[in-house]
Amino acid sequence: MLLRPHRLEDREGCLAAFDSNVPAFFAPSERSSYVEYLDEMLPRSGVRQLVLQAPDGAIVASGGVGLRDGEARMCWGIVRASHHRRHLGECFLLARLLLGAAAGADRAGLDTIPKTTQFFARYGFVIVREQDDGYGPGIHRRDMCVTLDLARVAALRSAFATTCAGLGVQLDQTLAGSLVQPPAIFSDDWEV
Ligand SMILES: CC(C)(COP(=O)(O)OP(=O)(O)OC[C@H]1O[C@@H](n2cnc3c(N)ncnc32)[C@H](O)[C@@H]1OP(=O)(O)O)[C@@H](O)C(=O)NCCC(=O)NCCS
Repeated sequence: MLLRPHRLEDREGCLAAFDSNVPAFFAPSERSSYVEYLDEMLPRSGVRQLVLQAPDGAIVASGGVGLRDGEARMCWGIVRASHHRRHLGECFLLARLLLGAAAGADRAGLDTIPKTTQFFARYGFVIVREQDDGYGPGIHRRDMCVTLDLARVAALRSAFATTCAGLGVQLDQTLAGSLVQPPAIFSDDWEV
């Protein structure tokens, strides 16, 4: 599998991954917001969208990360339903957290449904806001946040390397610098 930046031609693969998660994780009414994200937000914002491509070419995970007021925002992280619970979501989340840290973010944030909060909690996220019906009637919203301090980033980097090795994930050249090497200024052994 290859982890690489999103390309225009990935649109259908991303939508297929979204559709595979309806209705278990997304309401059909959310599709238009996702289309707007792909077609309008990605080209116009600084959000970096990544995809995980299987050897047969299928997009099995996708999602973005952007900076807002020093926070790395996780956007529309989606694993194709047929590939859930194989640690692809973990690989993908860790990659985006590391990209955010490499861009200088000192914390990361996201919003999600209650069903996935336990997944994010495994990586240090805590719930900072609860809004029942926050995405619409019956669709509750939870805002979560994690601090990206040096110790956590070092742990994330190590976990990412282990997960990628276990899954056989290759990194696109353009990502390797941010995801594998600690940036010199943030090296992990500057204890005083
Ligand atoms: C949430 C999501 C990304 C998780 O991806 P995934 O590939 O299934 O998760 P992983 O296999 O990497 O899970 C890592 C660990 O977390 C656990 N886990 C996964 N989803 C979980 C959940 N919803 N609740 C609790 N634990 C969960 C896994 O069992 C695994 O544990 P293990 O190490 O003991 O085996 C996936 O369910 C998804 O794409 N959902 C639809 C989109 C969505 O809701 N995105 C979130 C916000 S936009």
